[in-house]
Formats: sequence, C-alpha cells, structure tokens
Amino acid sequence: MIKRVRSWLNQEDSQQTHQLSPDNIPHHVAIIMDGNGRWAKRRGMPRIVGHQNGMKAVKRAAIAADDLGIKILTMYAFSTENWTRPKDEVDFLMKLPQEFLAIELEELIEKNVQVRMMGHPEELPSHTVSAMEEAVAKTAGNNGLVLNFALNYGSRKEITESFKALGQEISDGILRPEDITEELIGRRLLTGELPDPDLLIRTSGELRLSNFMLWQLAYSELWFTDAYWPEFTKDHLVEAIAEYQQRTRRYGGLS
Ligand code: IPE
Ligand code: IPE
Ligand code: MG
Repeated sequence: MIKRVRSWLNQEDSQQTHQLSPDNIPHHVAIIMDGNGRWAKRRGMPRIVGHQNGMKAVKRAAIAADDLGIKILTMYAFSTENWTRPKDEVDFLMKLPQEFLAIELEELIEKNVQVRMMGHPEELPSHTVSAMEEAVAKTAGNNGLVLNFALNYGSRKEITESFKALGQEISDGILRPEDITEELIGRRLLTGELPDPDLLIRTSGELRLSNFMLWQLAYSELWFTDAYWPEFTKDHLVEAIAEYQQRTRRYGGLS
C-alpha cells in the first residue's frame, strides 16, 4: 500500500525546482477538471475513456494536495448544465463516483481524508448518492484533507436556493431583511462553513468559470493550464502553487 502511494508522489523534482514556501500553501484549492473528452478525442477514443482517465487524475490530485499541505480540495465533477449531454455520457459519469470510491475509499480512510459532497442530490441517481453518502459517513470522523466533490453543482442554483430559503424565513417572520449579511449568505451556500478557495485551477485551456463557485471565488487567485484533466499531475499543482506564491492578494486594498 505504502509503495503504491509513493509511486503517485514520485515527483519531487518539480517541488524542488519551484521551492515552495511552506508558510504560504493555499488552504483551499478548487479545481475545474476540464478536458476529459478532448483528451480522449485526441487519442481517437470515445469521450468516456477520458472520464475514466480523469478519475485517475482525481486520485493523483488528492494525494498531491495532501502531500503539499493543502487542507481543502474542491473538485468540480458534474455541473447542473452537464445534464444536457448525451444520456450515455451522463449515465457513465453518474457511475464514476461509486467506481472511484469502490477502489479508493479504503485508502482515503487510511489517509485520514474527509470526503464531502456539494451539490443537489435530489436530481442524482440513488446509486450515485448512496455511494457518496457512504464515503462521507465513513470518513466523517477523519480530520485530514477535506476532499469536496461538486456533483450536480451549479453556483446560480446554489445562490437561488439559498435566497429562496432566506425569503421564506423572512415571510415566516424568523428573519428580518436587515439580518441578511454577506456572512449569513456565505453560510447558507453549499460550502457552509468552508472558507473560500484561495486558488482556483482550471485545466484544458478554457478561461471561464462555467457556473462554479461564483460567490466564493470573489477574491481567489486563478490559474489556468492547457493540460487536459487526465494529464494533470502533482507537477501542475506545484506549478500552480508556485505562481500563487508570487501573487500579492490585495482584496481591493493596497499592498
Ligand atoms: C470535464 O471534461 C468533465 C466534465 C465536465 C464532467 P469534459 O467532459 O468537459 O471534456 P471536454 O471539455 O469536452 O474536453
Ligand atoms: C465545467 O466544464 C464543469 C465541470 C468540469 C464539471 P464544462 O466542460 O461543462 O464547461 P463548459 O461547457 O466548457 O463551459
Ligand atoms: Mg469541458
């Protein structure tokens, strides 16, 4: 088991080249895992082969994040807009969480990872939800890396739902409009008590957010790579963090 973990981590070179400062590792990293389909197409293979290989990259990214001292890793796995894809592809994607967890859950538990899910479970097939719920329950007592899967997640839906709930509370008289603060809205989003991402990574060369964490990314640093998601390795993560460490976060103030 340990040997298998080591093989994933065998990328010390990049880490040394970039000499990451241990005091400035982003606490929360969010990743838009994009480019599975194009990765497969470039190899003359069906899109689902890209998704299958993307799953391996999830594992690499989680181990690398943990190793580098990242505390929260949020992975955009399926958006509220991805339902518009052909049914075969959607069905395949919906089976991936259980496949991933069947292979990896034991090791995730061993590595003290806390699995979480962020999204709207009501529209997901029950087999997908139960696999996720099992992983969340079995890792709930852990206190290591938070591995947060955004599954059937869409930021506009998230914000709309939270406003609906707040509106209902106002009409029920349990909340006054003046009680609504940025902190309250933040807590009512699917990220709940999680801090905002410090760093957002998107693969595949697309330079957009695609309805991902629109509220939470207000002051996150953005990093893009042309690499397709199945190609993502620890090297990319190290490169992203190295660049993050060069940035000055001003939050609208002066440095
Ligand atoms: C990301 O890869 C995975 C999901 C959105 C589920 P894509 O499937 O979007 O791959 P491309 O962008 O079409 O290459
Ligand atoms: C964003 O990728 C969603 C996920 C990675 C899960 P998409 O491939 O759906 O985004 P667009 O359509 O290129 O904006
Ligand atoms: Mg895409």
